[in-house]
Amino acid sequence: MIALRDVVVEYGRGVRAVRAVDRITLGVPQGQSLALIGPSGCGKSTLLFAVAGLIRATEGEIRIGGELVAGPRRDTALILQNAGLLPWKTVWQNANLSLLLAKEYPAATADAVLAELGLSDVKSRYPSELSEGMKRRVGIARALSTSPEVMLMDEPLASLDTLTKERIQDLFLKLWARHAFSFVLVTHDIEEAAFLGQRIVVLSPRPATVKAVVDNPEMGKLDYRESSAFRAVVFRLRAELERGA
Ligand SMILES: Nc1ncnc2c1ncn2[C@@H]1O[C@H](COP(=O)(O)OP(=O)(O)OP(=O)(O)O)[C@@H](O)[C@H]1O
Ligand SMILES: [Mg+2]
Repeated sequence: MIALRDVVVEYGRGVRAVRAVDRITLGVPQGQSLALIGPSGCGKSTLLFAVAGLIRATEGEIRIGGELVAGPRRDTALILQNAGLLPWKTVWQNANLSLLLAKEYPAATADAVLAELGLSDVKSRYPSELSEGMKRRVGIARALSTSPEVMLMDEPLASLDTLTKERIQDLFLKLWARHAFSFVLVTHDIEEAAFLGQRIVVLSPRPATVKAVVDNPEMGKLDYRESSAFRAVVFRLRAELERGA
C-alpha cells in the first residue's frame, strides 16, 4: 500500500516559499494502479518525487508498505520522461544499470525482461541506434530489472506518436499483470490516464489538491480502448479538468 496523508510540499522557506502540493491524501493498495492528471505546473512531478523519496514532504506523511518514506527505496523504481539512458552503454547495460551500479550481477530474469519488451534483438546496440519508442521500453526494462513493488512514472510516454504510445501502453498492461507491482502514473494525456489508471486523481492548478477522484473499474478489460466505458471515463476526466479552469 502506498499511503499519503495530508501531504504538503513547499519549495523554499518563509515569505518566498512556493507551495506545490497542498494537503493531499490518497492511497494505492498493493498491486493497484493510480493515474495523476492535472494542468502543467500544478505539482504532479513534485508529488511523485516526494513518493519516490527524492523530495521531502514539508508536512504530512508518505508510507510505503507501512514504512515512512525517508529517501529512495530499494523496492521502488522511477521512470522519467526521457528514459535517462546513458549513451555510452548498450541496451543490456542500460536495462541492468541499477543492478550493475549496486555491483549485483543481473539475474537470468534480465534477459527475460528484455524479451518481454521486444528488445532481445537490440540488446547490444547503443541508445543512439534506437527509435524513441525503443528507448522508452529500455527505460521500462531498467525499472523492472530490480523487481520493484512500486513503479512511479512521470510522463514516461510523452511526445511519442499515438500508435507507438498505445502499443507501449498495451505492453505495459501485460507487464503489470505478470509482475504484479503497484504503480503511480503521472500524465497529462487524458486517454493514457483512462487506459492505465484503475483510479484517476484529477489535481487542481498549483498548489495541487485533489479536485476529483474517478474510479475506472473496467480498466484492463479486453479491447478497453474501444469500449463505451473508456469513452465515458475520458469524457468525465475532460469535464473535471475544465471545471473552474
Ligand atoms: N526546485 C524548485 N524550486 C522552486 N519551485 C519549484 C521547483 N520545482 C518546481 N517548482 C515549482 O513547483 C510547481 C510545481 O512543479 P511540478 O514540476 O511539480 O509541476 P508539474 O505538474 O509536474 O508540471 P508539468 O506538467 O509541466 O510537468 C511549479 O510552479 C514549479 O515552478
Ligand atoms: Mg512534471
